[in-house]
Amino acid sequence: MKYVIGVDLGTSAVKLLLVNQEGDVCLEVSKSYPLIQGKSGYSEQDPEQWVEKTEEGLAELVQQFPGNVNDIEGISFSGQMHGLVLMDEKHRVLRNAILWNDTRTTKQCREIEEIVGKEQLLQITKNHVLEGFTLPKLLWVKQNEPYIFERAAVFMLPKDYLRYCLTGKIHSEYSDAAGTLLLDMNEKEWSYRIGELIGINMDICPPIVESHEYIGTLTDNVSKRTGLSEKTKVFAGGADNACGAIGAGVLSEGKSLCSIGTSGVVLSYEKQKDQDYGGKVHYFNHGEENTYYTMGVTLSAGHSLSWFKSTFAPDEPYEDLMEKIENVPAGSNGLLFTPYLSGERTPHADSVIRGSFIGIHSRHSKKEFLRSVVEGITFSLNESIQIFRENGKKIDTIVSIGGGAKSSIWLQIQADVFRAKVVKLKNEQGPGMGAAMLAAYGSGWFSSLQECADTFLDIQEVYNPQKEQSDRYAAIFEVYKTVYEKTKQINEDMKAFRQ
Ligand code: XUL
Repeated sequence: MKYVIGVDLGTSAVKLLLVNQEGDVCLEVSKSYPLIQGKSGYSEQDPEQWVEKTEEGLAELVQQFPGNVNDIEGISFSGQMHGLVLMDEKHRVLRNAILWNDTRTTKQCREIEEIVGKEQLLQITKNHVLEGFTLPKLLWVKQNEPYIFERAAVFMLPKDYLRYCLTGKIHSEYSDAAGTLLLDMNEKEWSYRIGELIGINMDICPPIVESHEYIGTLTDNVSKRTGLSEKTKVFAGGADNACGAIGAGVLSEGKSLCSIGTSGVVLSYEKQKDQDYGGKVHYFNHGEENTYYTMGVTLSAGHSLSWFKSTFAPDEPYEDLMEKIENVPAGSNGLLFTPYLSGERTPHADSVIRGSFIGIHSRHSKKEFLRSVVEGITFSLNESIQIFRENGKKIDTIVSIGGGAKSSIWLQIQADVFRAKVVKLKNEQGPGMGAAMLAAYGSGWFSSLQECADTFLDIQEVYNPQKEQSDRYAAIFEVYKTVYEKTKQINEDMKAFRQ
């Protein structure tokens, strides 16, 4: 039997999966690392930590592996998107990585819009500028840390930096390059036009390859430190959302994904690169060659739930909490929550907005609050689904992964709010599985990613919308959508009082 490793470089931890040719996850290791939040809105990580923890994880995986290490044929990656790693000409890291959830770049975003023009930006990159994307981060470093920017010889995305440390080879790949706002989506190459307008020397951009492409083998040192064979083949990998989609089998038109982690995304497969959503949702290259996906993001999805639990129910296990909300009627007895704990992305790109509980009454207890948090997250994701549908996309089946797929009550709430079939996969593993599938396909085990998905993935359960609940949620969703506009000014006025 042969094996591959899927490495998912997340925001809180790196997760490693050892997967065999039948798609069984034989071993799993996770290693966490901290976020560095020096100032309000800042979110950084030390790239060396990613490498150290990944190597530790790989060594642990090899130690636990009872078979012949030479049978581990390939390794590939999934990674948190948009993060900026800057290296000098000797490939030394120049500063901490600035992550996707860092919001310090509002000024740079407005400047990019002004200089490049919203229309041109959308035409070249298919996306509007956002604080989280890489280009505004580059501009921020240029303006605020010119002594660092001057020394920058290469910029890398998080998992590309990790792969560089394991192989010594410098590359980016299309699915992550698409999230930089520097990729010309039509030409499939870095946009020299944007670089020229913003004053960024495009020599700092690494060469771009396909996600399943063979990059090389592990360096001797990495092989020694981890115990993996120096012949282990390394494949490029993809952005976490692209890999989440691959790992959920979202590989053909009509297939959609709802993934609830710290942030939440709803994404839908696109065969074409020219469908027009007017920039209301992100439009990125998939990890499958020459295909795409459109995506809406709720910034604080799982994060809203973990915030609520750690603040108000730190000692109660999630399972017990989720059981309690089952008896609360849809609509949480009139309590409504908006999950804007750290601003919002889709459909309101707004870093100032904050969350609300609306309609609090003395009869409400913890369980109503909790259900309203779960419902609010789901309503926010539904706003993205509504944009897809308004633009003619058929969304009738959604594969749910991540935290939202761990609870049957939440899966049912998703089916009722989304008014679609919600599918739970057997042994769902998220982006790490997508990364393993890229390694399996890259290694030549299958003739396509779809063929790999047919072998690796199985449906466990399907949740159908229940008419009465669904209609009730449709009515509440109309109210939910009005909360943003009604609380926007209040939050702008309160901004001065935030620490
Ligand atoms: C996508 C995004 C997040 C990160 C999280 O645009 O910012 O989903 O990729 O890892």
